[in-house]
Amino acid sequence: MVSPFADIASVILEPDPYIKCESVAQLHAQFDSLNFDSQSNEPSKEIASPGYPATLQLVAPRELKRRGIQSQQGRNILMHSIAHIEFNAINLALDAAYRFKNQPTDYYRDWISIAADETRHFSMIHDYLKQHDCEYGDYPAHNGLWQMAVDTQHDIVARMALVPRVLEARGLDVTPAIIEKLERVNDHLAVAILTVIYQDEIAHVDAGSRWFFYQCKQKKFEPRSTFMNMVEQYLHGELRGPFNVSARLQAGFDEFEMAAIDERYG
Ligand SMILES: [Fe+2]
Repeated sequence: MVSPFADIASVILEPDPYIKCESVAQLHAQFDSLNFDSQSNEPSKEIASPGYPATLQLVAPRELKRRGIQSQQGRNILMHSIAHIEFNAINLALDAAYRFKNQPTDYYRDWISIAADETRHFSMIHDYLKQHDCEYGDYPAHNGLWQMAVDTQHDIVARMALVPRVLEARGLDVTPAIIEKLERVNDHLAVAILTVIYQDEIAHVDAGSRWFFYQCKQKKFEPRSTFMNMVEQYLHGELRGPFNVSARLQAGFDEFEMAAIDERYG
């Protein structure tokens, strides 16, 4: 049985989208032959930046163009920004598996399986872009999406709180309105893709919630106050609402927690 940690790191660093997606599929298919039981307590190496296509220009969010989605170019810009989010989601799921050693096998199974889902999301959007004479790397993209991975690399509780339960949960809040806008301009393909992604992301946030609660239990932390403290500490109170309460309730938030979050940040 081979230790997969070094291989996972090299997939995170892989810049070519096709090779990255193919490598994730292999990790996923071979999961049962991988040995995640690490004998070493050596920390995983810091990854300052994952691999991105050489053509992709990373810029500050204020430099990103926004266009109305009446035009195909505007929709390409929107879908390109979502392709970038999905590409990062592949790397974030892989990093959850790479970075935190000595976890239950099911922890690694979940994150490798989520990484495989994210490659499917990325590929669906990439196919959409190619059908419209565009590909990943043609437009500039947000330079800050990896920062939370770096900020939480030392602490699995913070990682589970901040990446699935904040960043990915934000996707649940905003996606229904994007789908509605695309319905209004009759972009049926984009609507179909984002609907699949939205359903899958509920399960991903739920998995993040499960591992967040598992970690809290192991460490005897009270989960609700721990989550709120992490949000304060890492986001300085900048959790953005409004929140999609019904989706979040399906994704491992409970009613008391949502009421507290809504009262403080909604
Ligand atoms: Fe995704």
